[in-house]
Amino acid sequence: MAKSRSSSGSRRARPAAVITLDGPSGAGKGSVGQRLAIQLGWHFLDSGALYRVTALAARQAGCDFGDITGLVGLASGLNVRFEPQVGSDACVLLDDRDIGDVIRTEEIGRLASEVAVLPPVRQALLKKQQTLRQPPGLVADGRDMGTVVFPDAELKVFLSASPAARAERRYNQLKDKGLDVNLARLAEEIRVRDARDEEREVSPLKPADDAYIIDSSHLSIAQVVERVLSLLRKRQGR
Ligand code: DC
Repeated sequence: MAKSRSSSGSRRARPAAVITLDGPSGAGKGSVGQRLAIQLGWHFLDSGALYRVTALAARQAGCDFGDITGLVGLASGLNVRFEPQVGSDACVLLDDRDIGDVIRTEEIGRLASEVAVLPPVRQALLKKQQTLRQPPGLVADGRDMGTVVFPDAELKVFLSASPAARAERRYNQLKDKGLDVNLARLAEEIRVRDARDEEREVSPLKPADDAYIIDSSHLSIAQVVERVLSLLRKRQGR
């Protein structure tokens, strides 16, 4: 575990503590983040789901991705909350209806990555994400949580894992769901998605200067959770 650069140590009064968990897809952020939220009794934010819900809402409303005003209106009006689970993806409640399964398709993932490159949409979702920062605390999972959305977070973690480890995890997840998958194709999809997330002009995927970097390639979810909790205790002086 390495710290990419020391933080300034300055602390401002803030409404609630936040742990940010950023990293590429398949690094285990979702599983780790949900367990952390449950153990701490904190709120949970799956920011990727917000981009997915925006894409879904746009498709349902027949809103073209060139219609920035329409997209921003949809993103700003979303009434979404998350319920963390152990052992599965978080429940994503849109107007109190669980739409987790509907947004976690390959098609909505692709559309989400298209809306995620639009700065006005990111700006609208930025405000939405910040309103989810409520006592007693928030665990926020995404790509730019520590760099853009919660730059003053209590603890920032960048969770990485080798592309091979991430492809294998994804392969096992999909196999468990009874789907017919190809490991080499998954590895290629992960490579393409990493490149798109890292090379994007707005809010690219990268560790915050003061993030702790944890490589989860050879760690279980429980081990990563324990490391994050131990870092949190250190940060809180316990
Ligand atoms: O983590 P995910 O697969 O659900 O994310 C869906 C898309 O949203 C993905 O293309 C990256 C983008 N995203 C983003 O740009 N910023 C975030 N904080 C989270 C996700």
